[in-house]
Amino acid sequence: MELAQTLHGMGNKTLQQTPPAMIRAFDQEISQIPDLVKLTLGEPGFDVPEHIKQAAIESIKQNDSHYTTAAGKPRLRQAVAADLKRRYQVDYDPASEVIVTNGATEALSAATFSLFNPGDKVIIPTPGYALYFPIIGYNGAVPVEVNTKEDGFILTPERLEQVIEENAPVKALLLNFPVNPTGRTYDKEQLAALAAVIKRHHLLVISDEIYGDLTYDHRHYSLVEEIPEQTILISGLSKSHAMTGWRIGYLAGPAELVKLITKMHSFLITCINDTAQAAAIEALENGQDDPVAFREEYHHRRDLMIKDLTAAGFEIATPEGAFYVFAKIPAAFGTDDFTFARAIAHEAKVGLIPGSVFGPGGEGYVRLSYAADEETIKEAMKRIKAYMAAQGKEA
Ligand SMILES: Cc1ncc(COP(=O)(O)O)c(C=O)c1O
Repeated sequence: MELAQTLHGMGNKTLQQTPPAMIRAFDQEISQIPDLVKLTLGEPGFDVPEHIKQAAIESIKQNDSHYTTAAGKPRLRQAVAADLKRRYQVDYDPASEVIVTNGATEALSAATFSLFNPGDKVIIPTPGYALYFPIIGYNGAVPVEVNTKEDGFILTPERLEQVIEENAPVKALLLNFPVNPTGRTYDKEQLAALAAVIKRHHLLVISDEIYGDLTYDHRHYSLVEEIPEQTILISGLSKSHAMTGWRIGYLAGPAELVKLITKMHSFLITCINDTAQAAAIEALENGQDDPVAFREEYHHRRDLMIKDLTAAGFEIATPEGAFYVFAKIPAAFGTDDFTFARAIAHEAKVGLIPGSVFGPGGEGYVRLSYAADEETIKEAMKRIKAYMAAQGKEA
């Protein structure tokens, strides 16, 4: 006991006071429940395409087992730059404006730790990805949370303008679209209007576009098409190529900032696993169409889930991208999303994430991931419908 207390006193105080990543904590809490069907995590229910696996096997055989330059193999950075050019008609210099990171997660941490000073104000639209809050907070920067619920879960230019004025001076915006947890995204006009405000106020933007390949109703428009000089673009292969465990992300932005972020990145991890980089080269050079089949399948699963959840009494703002449904808990079940998610887990044996872990605007909602395979989704929907009906409460 005494030893535990002494050791506790030795930890970094800021980190000790930083809450843990809530999605994983809740997932772990309910994972002990026997026979649980989980729709908790954003884990694609697909295998990595065969040609990518073969490239990795070949790399191992070729003894591709060394440190690479911190920013990543030159050919991989070239492939990232070529992909960005193909999609968004933007030019990035692979030598100075692109870094390959350990998933989008490390790109987010490295960028945050490199760019913000204690006290810097960073706007975060909410509900938003739960990781943003602890990493911004750990850094001593000040998150300015903007509840987007009343605007259909997107950040409007008017709201951004208002928040900037009320909180001046604001340094940056941490934007994510398609949005985890709501699946909402921006069309070309909406993004251009938002970019105009960002430009006028000289904000720096970290734009997390990890779900850019999973947009269902129109192509994904990137912020780098509007304001590349103010944007740090973050993406990766976790979602587009079902490669979560390979840990391949990337970051692209103005050389001056990328240089600084590369320094932090090298302090954190030195470089990415050599074989994973070989797999990523194959994915980007020859697997540009791999996400198409995934996208079609996710689209189908989304429609299936929306139909069943609506029938069970949930209200949903139709997700246009990513693989999440953010569903409003029917009024008869109260607004405490943790109580509801725990009840569904213990009684219906379905794992969901309580909406309030995603910040203001998420209370009274639950997030369901349709990255799981179709059988799992169908079983979960059957259980939820039966549970809701058995409660006998009017929606
Ligand atoms: C919005 C968002 N950003 C980043 C990540 C992390 O991605 P990666 O697996 O590439 O670290 C996720 C994963 O779920 C996410 O939803």
